[in-house]
Amino acid sequence: MRRFSHLVFCFCLTRVLAQPFVLPQLPYGYSEYAPNIDALTMEIHITKHHQAYVNNLNKCVKGTPFETYTLEDILINLPPDGEVLRNNAGGHYNHSLFWEILAPRPKQGPISESLNTQIITQFGSMDSLRKALFLSATSRFGSGWAWLIVTPDKKLQVISMANQDNPLMACSSNRGIPILGIDVWEHAYYLNYQNRRADYLSAVWDLLNWKVVSENYAEALNSPLLSKLKSTNCQKKSKKH
Ligand SMILES: [Fe+2]
Repeated sequence: MRRFSHLVFCFCLTRVLAQPFVLPQLPYGYSEYAPNIDALTMEIHITKHHQAYVNNLNKCVKGTPFETYTLEDILINLPPDGEVLRNNAGGHYNHSLFWEILAPRPKQGPISESLNTQIITQFGSMDSLRKALFLSATSRFGSGWAWLIVTPDKKLQVISMANQDNPLMACSSNRGIPILGIDVWEHAYYLNYQNRRADYLSAVWDLLNWKVVSENYAEALNSPLLSKLKSTNCQKKSKKH
C-alpha cells in the first residue's frame, strides 16, 4: 500500500540505474469501484490515459539528465520550456496518487486523529472540507485537478490546477505536497456521468480511503520536499493535450 508513498516522498536525487517509469498496479479490480466509478472507465483511465503519460514521460527523459531523476525531482526542477515533460510527468504523478487514495467500500481505512484534528481546526468540519474541495473541482474550467495539499508551513490547503499541473511544480502559486487529488478531466467520468461533474465528485468522495490520505499527511509533514517548495508565479502555461 505504501509503495507510492515511497515514490512520492523519497528524497534521493537519482533513481537507481535509471529504470524507466512504470504504470503502478491498481490496488483493486476495475469492477470493485462500481457503482461509483464503472469498470470500463477505470480500465480505460489507467491502461490508456495513464499508460500514455508513462510512455511519453519515458520518451521525454530518455538521454537527458532527467532520466535519472525521481519523479518528484523532475516536477520540482522542470525547465521553462519543458512543456511535454511537464504534462507527462504531471500526468504520471497525479494519476499514481489518485489510484492510491481510492478504495471500494468496505475496504477503506479510517482517518487518523492528527489529520482529522487539523481538518477540524482549519476547515471547521469534514463537511466543510468536502464543500471546499467540491467548489475547487467544479469551478476548475476545463480539465485539471482539485488538491488537498500540505504547504511548506505545514498547513492544509485546498487548491485546483489546470491540465496535469500539480503543486510540486514551480508554476504553482500555491505550492505544497499533495495528499489527496481528484481528477476532473472528462475522461475520468464521462462514460457514466457525462457532464455531471458534481455527481462524479460525490461518488469519488465516497471512495476516498482516508487511511491512505492520513498516511500521506503524516509523511508530508516530515518530508524534506517541503523545504524546497516556495511560492513562485507561473512563468509558462501548458496547453491541453
Ligand atoms: Fe485522468
